[in-house]
Amino acid sequence: MTEEKVKIPNNIGNVIAIMSGKGGVGKSLVAALTAIALKKQGFNVGILDADITGPSIPKIFGITEKPEVSENGMHPVKSKTGIGIMSINLLLPNEDEAVIWRGPLIGKAITEFWEDVYWGNLDYLIVDLPPGTADAPLTVLNSLPVSGIIIVFTPQDLTAMVVRKAVNMAKKMDKHILGVVENMSYLYIPELDKKMEIFGKSRGEEMSQTAGAPLLAQIPIDIELVKLCDEGKIEEYESPAFNSLIQNLNQLINKK
Ligand SMILES: Nc1ncnc2c1ncn2[C@@H]1O[C@H](COP(=O)(O)OP(=O)(O)OP(=O)(O)O)[C@@H](O)[C@H]1O
Ligand SMILES: [Mg+2]
Repeated sequence: MTEEKVKIPNNIGNVIAIMSGKGGVGKSLVAALTAIALKKQGFNVGILDADITGPSIPKIFGITEKPEVSENGMHPVKSKTGIGIMSINLLLPNEDEAVIWRGPLIGKAITEFWEDVYWGNLDYLIVDLPPGTADAPLTVLNSLPVSGIIIVFTPQDLTAMVVRKAVNMAKKMDKHILGVVENMSYLYIPELDKKMEIFGKSRGEEMSQTAGAPLLAQIPIDIELVKLCDEGKIEEYESPAFNSLIQNLNQLINKK
């Protein structure tokens, strides 16, 4: 007689999507920092990289291992601090391989990352979205039980406009916006003890009002961040801005 193995179901508490209408504003960075902040507070955390054509999560965590497969499905690869990560880049023969797929296939890959990956018991699953309000964000918001969205923006005019689109999309789809994060908010010059607003005046308060959600952090332009992302050591990042993200997330969690 063969013993039939029963697949252990996933048990995921909260799904948080990181979104912006615009590319290159720091969504993946904020997805990583949010996951790290929650992990530091003792939660079980995973990251689903829903950016199928431009995945960057494995790189900034310095992960190259292939996921293991068991009767429960594909296992996310663990980061140095124990965050479970799943990304298309971990499944490609090499990380420079291009994924040239149309919308439906991209949507399928994302739902498979949700359904066929053995996430196990997670308090938080952070979903890193590609830019825009097209196929991938739509699939995530439609097919995954997203309980909150974090919107990322930079202080530029153009960004403000596309962020309003993301806010409208979230509202139209009846999704709760947990908070907003301003990235590349300013550059701090230690010699002058001065903050320079390189990309324009901060829009933190304005965006917080537009989204009807708190401003969780204002992350400066930080050369240390670039270095850590390039070296796959994002988990080593420490800064006052990151501490405020940790504190504000903590407050949100405790308010629930
Ligand atoms: N605060 C910052 N200081 C310095 N560099 C930053 C900062 N935020 C992001 N970067 C750099 O900018 C680039 C884009 O960041 P990131 O990949 O997080 O953006 P994204 O919004 O996810 O982009 P995409 O739309 O392509 O997914 C990265 O190379 C990252 O290292
Ligand atoms: Mg990204």
